[in-house]
Amino acid sequence: AADPLVLGIESSCDETGVALVRGATLLGHAVASSVDEHVRFGGVVPEIASRAHLEAFLPTMRRACEEAGVTLADVDAVAVTAGPGLAGALLVGVAAAKALALALDVPLLGVNHLVAHVAVDVLVSGALPERSVALLVSGGHTELLDVHSPVHQGRQGVGAMRVELLGQTLDDAAGEAFDKVARLLGLPYPGGPHVQRAAERGDPAAFAFPRGLTAAHDLRRHPYDFSFSGLKTAVARQVDAHRRSLEPGAELGEAFVADVAASFSEAVADVLSRKTVTAAQERGVQTVLLGGGVAANARVRGLLAERCEAAGLDLRVPPLRLCTDNGAMVAALGALVLADGLGPSPLELATDPGLPV
Ligand code: KG4
Ligand code: ZN
Repeated sequence: AADPLVLGIESSCDETGVALVRGATLLGHAVASSVDEHVRFGGVVPEIASRAHLEAFLPTMRRACEEAGVTLADVDAVAVTAGPGLAGALLVGVAAAKALALALDVPLLGVNHLVAHVAVDVLVSGALPERSVALLVSGGHTELLDVHSPVHQGRQGVGAMRVELLGQTLDDAAGEAFDKVARLLGLPYPGGPHVQRAAERGDPAAFAFPRGLTAAHDLRRHPYDFSFSGLKTAVARQVDAHRRSLEPGAELGEAFVADVAASFSEAVADVLSRKTVTAAQERGVQTVLLGGGVAANARVRGLLAERCEAAGLDLRVPPLRLCTDNGAMVAALGALVLADGLGPSPLELATDPGLPV
């Protein structure tokens, strides 16, 4: 018999994602983003994101079904992100998933968003490595995980893997740091892509920005944790100093912005890749996975690839559309949960904004 057809729903932040997966095959997926509605606020406004999910859900689901060439009647299970994420945003996806599961009389599968970022690799590689170190870097989270692949039923009936949280950010998420630095440089939100573009013309060695939590005494206490607030403050100081050297009201200047962007990106890429490679080596893990929107950053990807290769590690980076939040990662994890004979989640499935891995 064919593998079950799993419909995946993602709504934890500002992307409404719906996808259809059969086994390890992505049949179709669609994503609607409310990012444009948040631009003038310089960050995601939860209330606006929730409303946008509500408006985008049905058209996005239709697009995904059309692309996959299936109808809802073909769906064998509905997987949905139960957390972590924005409370109101999660509720929209989970309510939709419950309604579908009930109407179609198929299992409901709640999944963990962070684990789904890892599980998406199954759609690229056909199977997950037995063990991996995963670096998840987005606007909302920054985690370094030691992942043991077998899927199991976690807290509250939510699909999970045995994951050890090795480290996380103690302040800003990596993507948030890009967004804040963009703002300091007068670049639009979301800042990541703009900082990257500016960095292409800059000198990564122009400014020696701090590498958070990499000094010997920090490493003893926080070997795999990250901190980006000191880096952001250092950028702010550099910008202030530069401003004082200019005529009042003058622009920062393209060359200065490019050098700051390049030096900042270098600092972030250095810390992320250094800690990830060290973690894999110290834990004797062969495979490194990269996920989250910041995986789009050329310097982060490039330096991590360089250092993984030098250390003899295999690096897996899904295509970008699968790195940013999407329904395919949710459906992929849902399919793994089903294949392992787990689930369904209770129809009372609760959302959990702070759901741990
Ligand atoms: O995973 P994602 O789409 O959404 C969540 O935050 O969950 O990640 C968005 C984040 C934003 O902070 C954005 O600035 C950052 O990823 N980002 C980048 C790049 N493209 C997106 N950061 C650095 N370089 C990029 N090219
Ligand atoms: Zn995410």
